[in-house]
Amino acid sequence: MITATNLHRSYSIGQKTIEVLHGLDLHIARGEKVFLCGPSGAGKTTLMYTLAGLEQPQQGQVVIAGTDIYALNLKKRALFRNKTMGFIFQNYMLMPELTALENASLATAVAGREATEHVVALLERVGLGDRLNHLPNELSGGEQQRVAIARALAHNPDIIFADEPTGNLDSRNGGQILDLLFSLAEEGGKTLVTVTHDASIAARGDRTLIIRDGVVDNA
Ligand SMILES: Nc1ncnc2c1ncn2[C@@H]1O[C@H](COP(=O)(O)OP(=O)(O)O)[C@@H](O)[C@H]1O
Ligand SMILES: [Mg+2]
Repeated sequence: MITATNLHRSYSIGQKTIEVLHGLDLHIARGEKVFLCGPSGAGKTTLMYTLAGLEQPQQGQVVIAGTDIYALNLKKRALFRNKTMGFIFQNYMLMPELTALENASLATAVAGREATEHVVALLERVGLGDRLNHLPNELSGGEQQRVAIARALAHNPDIIFADEPTGNLDSRNGGQILDLLFSLAEEGGKTLVTVTHDASIAARGDRTLIIRDGVVDNA
């Protein structure tokens, strides 16, 4: 589903250059649920953004479902991303002026599909059936992340990327969010890529990829 070959990415600040991805290769099969692990600063977010077509590598290739994504122009790549991928972030990234239902409908609106009924069902599935018209600031952190999960799944993408999805939650809420995310991914046959610095949660995945010195150490 996702094949990355020889990814290189460095950042220069003044005279100093940091090599973040250093000839990184990986393959993630369709339907696989993997964790990308490594300490803070290891390059997990950079790798996730690179795999998702959000950050062009200086060298190397990312092929998703047979498409070489950086061979596409920006517009086609954005369309491909909207069709194929859903995203969940540590800070939820909900639009503050939109309700739970409106937030969860955002990607379907972009994809130009009929939304509401299906998104309501999804919000019920994540336990927010009685919170449809709440604004983000009227929801707890765990509830906001449930909205973000519904938003990520609403347009039925093949791949879900989650960057530290439990980073702002206590361990009980975080555990519930992961269980929900994994069940929904399993039910839908999704490929799930979850970034975390917390090795203790990685047992839920099929496989853990550890980023070390800019490459993947398969564990
Ligand atoms: N836009 C940027 N400009 C300069 N340095 C960056 C930028 N993005 C990330 N970095 C650096 O790259 C390294 C990896 O960052 P990141 O991928 O965010 O790590 P992680 O998600 O594993 O904590 C860090 O040292 C970070 O400071
Ligand atoms: Mg990060």
